[in-house]
Order: sequence, then C-alpha cells, then structure tokens
Amino acid sequence: MKHFINLKDIPTKDLRKILMHAKKRKQTRSELNTLQLDKDVPLKGKLLIQMFEKSSLRTRLSFYLAIRQLGGGTITLRSNELHIGSGGESLEDTAKILSTYGDGFMLRTNSDLKIDNFKKHLSIPIINGLSPSSHPTQVLSDIFTIEEIKKKDISKLKIAWVGDSNNVLNSLIAASVKFSFKLNIGCPKNYEPKKFILDWVESKKKKLFIFNSAKKAVENVDVIFTDKVISLNDKVNKKKKIKDFRNFKINKKLMSHAKKDCIFLHCLPRGNEVEDKVFKSKNSKVWLQALNRVHVQKSILLYCFGKLR
Ligand code: CP
Ligand code: NVA
Repeated sequence: MKHFINLKDIPTKDLRKILMHAKKRKQTRSELNTLQLDKDVPLKGKLLIQMFEKSSLRTRLSFYLAIRQLGGGTITLRSNELHIGSGGESLEDTAKILSTYGDGFMLRTNSDLKIDNFKKHLSIPIINGLSPSSHPTQVLSDIFTIEEIKKKDISKLKIAWVGDSNNVLNSLIAASVKFSFKLNIGCPKNYEPKKFILDWVESKKKKLFIFNSAKKAVENVDVIFTDKVISLNDKVNKKKKIKDFRNFKINKKLMSHAKKDCIFLHCLPRGNEVEDKVFKSKNSKVWLQALNRVHVQKSILLYCFGKLR
C-alpha cells in the first residue's frame, strides 16, 4: 500500500511515473466532458473519503473530479462534524472506521503528527491534502504544469520562489531535490526556510539559492512562484509580517528581471502578494495550474491504489 504524504519520502522514479501517467491520461480525455468517465474506469466502485480541518476550494473539487473521472466516488467530511473533532472518539477508532467504509483517505490538517498517527492506524492509503509543513499534491501538479508549458524537463529550468517559507515552499524545495532543478528563494531576512529543511537539502548534496532581495531571486528565471504571506491558521503578528514582506510583491517591474517568457504561478487563494496586472497577464498560468491538479491527482490516486501502470 502506498501513501502520498511528503515528496521527499517518495522515490523520484515513482514521482516521474505519476507525472508521465497524468500526461497520457490528460491527453486521452481531451474530448470528454467534466463528469464523463475515463474509458478504462480503473477505480470503479472505490470510495475516497476526504476530511478537511481547514478551508479548501481547489483541493476538495479537484479530488472530487479526479476520483469521479476514474470511476469512483468521494464523500467530504469536516472534522468538526465528527466525534473525533470534539474529542468524543479516538483517532485510532476513527481510522478503523474510515478503513472499513472507504478505500482511500485524503486529509487536510492542522497537524503533521495527525497524518503520521492516521497512517499508523489506517489500512487504506492516506494522501496529504495540505499540512502545516507541506502541500505535496499541489507542488507535484505544479511541476506537471511547468513541464507542460515549457515543453522541457524541469531540471533544465530555473525556478524562483518569492515569498514566505511556508508549506508550499517546503514541498517545492523537496521537488527541487527530487527533480534536480535550480531553485532561488527570495524572502526577507529572518523568513528563510527552517534549518532542518536546509540540513536535509545539504544531506542530499543539493543547494538552494537564498536571497534577501526579490530582484536577485528572479534574475533570468523561467518561472516565478509566490503564495499568500499569511497562510491558513498562521499564528503570527499579521500586520508586522505583511509589512516585512512589502518589498517582495510580484509586480511588472519585478517580472521584467526574469526571462521574457517567464511564467507566473500561484497555488491560490491569493492575497496582496501579487499585483493584479501580473496575475491577469498572459504570463500568468494560474488557471491551468489549478485545472492540472485534477489530472495529476488522478495519477496520485492510481499510485496509492496500486493501479499505476
Ligand atoms: N491551492 C489549494 O490547495 O487551494 P485550496 O486551499 O482552495 O484547496
Ligand atoms: N500556504 C497556504 C496554501 C494554501 C493552499 C496555506 O497553507 O494557507
């Protein structure tokens, strides 16, 4: 049984296989409508249980479409509607019931430890749909989008992240190690990635390029990523943090330091970290980025269900 929890723990050859399969499957349904099933219906009769402890628009809908198109179904739970949410049932018993009724479990959570504990007690695969430390389904899908647009292996491209050192960046860092691409990070002083992440990169004999200047981070890059300065449930002094990031906004001037055909990506939802003019420009590929989550997550589901060929 395969779980999908953190990119850093998944072999590169498996990640590559997921991407290649997503590409093939996306091509084969170009003529199909949203809820038409893929011809081979590989997950016919399977149920994915999704549970959210935090808000979600894209992850919820893209997993719904992903499992439906593969022939299965999904049910979405809010943890506060279950006994576990009010402390009325243990995680262990909840996991047992989820494994009895469902075939896969997708969790968006406030706690990385909870994912580990569920993994321990579930007998079905678990997928991390965003945790405080990572957002692996998002980032794997973003690699797919970049390679689709640039028609090149990502190892041949220069990527910049300008913004907070958050869960999405952690997964992007893991991807940069797994897929060997150059990653520049632009963030204010004291907002750099945590030491244990930098140590992990070093242990893999890879290098990140960290700048306390947005301009330096984006010079001559092929892709610029950003994300909200304040993440879901970020318990910080919001006013101060937003002020600290004032020179790290993605605007036209900043984009002009990157390559001419540089694309802009944002996992969404957005805040004020990107100017409207950039967000709505032809270089911005955010809508394709969101759409591709369906295709890559289908492949992730097949991987977890042992059906990836
Ligand atoms: N990008 C992303 O995960 O969006 P949601 O929070 O809407 O799921
Ligand atoms: N970093 C953001 C991503 C949202 C999809 C957050 O955790 O809120």
